Amino acid sequence: MFGLRDPIENRASIFFLPRVCIYDKDQIMKTNRWEDHYTRLARDEDWLARSVYKLQEIDKKFRIIKKDDRLLDMGCFPGSWSQYGLRKVGRKGEVVGIDLTRPEQFLPSNFRFIPADVLSLDVEWLAKEIGPRGVVLSDLAPRTTGIRSVDTNRSMSLAARAAEIAYAVLKVRGHFVCKVFEGEDLRHFRVETSRHFKRTRLFRPTATRKGSREIYLVGIDLVK
Ligand SMILES: C[S@@+](CC[C@H](N)C(=O)[O-])C[C@H]1O[C@@H](n2cnc3c(N)ncnc32)[C@H](O)[C@@H]1O
Repeated sequence: MFGLRDPIENRASIFFLPRVCIYDKDQIMKTNRWEDHYTRLARDEDWLARSVYKLQEIDKKFRIIKKDDRLLDMGCFPGSWSQYGLRKVGRKGEVVGIDLTRPEQFLPSNFRFIPADVLSLDVEWLAKEIGPRGVVLSDLAPRTTGIRSVDTNRSMSLAARAAEIAYAVLKVRGHFVCKVFEGEDLRHFRVETSRHFKRTRLFRPTATRKGSREIYLVGIDLVK
């Protein structure tokens, strides 16, 4: 791990995590038609997924994650958001990740993985287990079917659940970032979350794939 470059600070760091797979350019071109600028960049900069650039842009714009923060990252697999979070919070901070799939690469002692389905997770148990959080992230996404209404509804269920968990675990003045697919219920979701935060914004990072309906709701400063 020593001597690898830190993509945030562009310096060598002991926290930097090794890349997940050995990338074979030709293989990727054959199997992944979505290979694009951000995919290549993520590979070159040793991030676990291209989605890191969405969080990076959100974080730069809204100043979400600070040194020593305690984060909850829902839908954390394969791990790039947690990887980014760990870099930002430093040794004294901490990241808890939840997903159906375990991100095997995470070894730092300040990362904890909880294998769970957020839709059936006991929220009270979680709040006690992980304690108050300064930031809650949700990049939860359903397995898409291609049927617009089904995918949007599933995404909204995950987002609503993520918000419920955020209200239970966030400290006062904590922040929330949540992926959701644009659809009829988005306005209602924003109105609901606005009751809990001083400010809410909808933001579409430039790394979002063309044609994707995903957008991020950012809640700043939880009020209880
Ligand atoms: C877009 S990926 C997250 C990528 C991640 N932010 C990263 O940067 O590496 C969405 C994740 O949500 C997870 N997910 C979807 N439904 C879930 C559920 N009900 N409970 C827990 N995780 C879920 C999926 O397993 C998937 O890993």
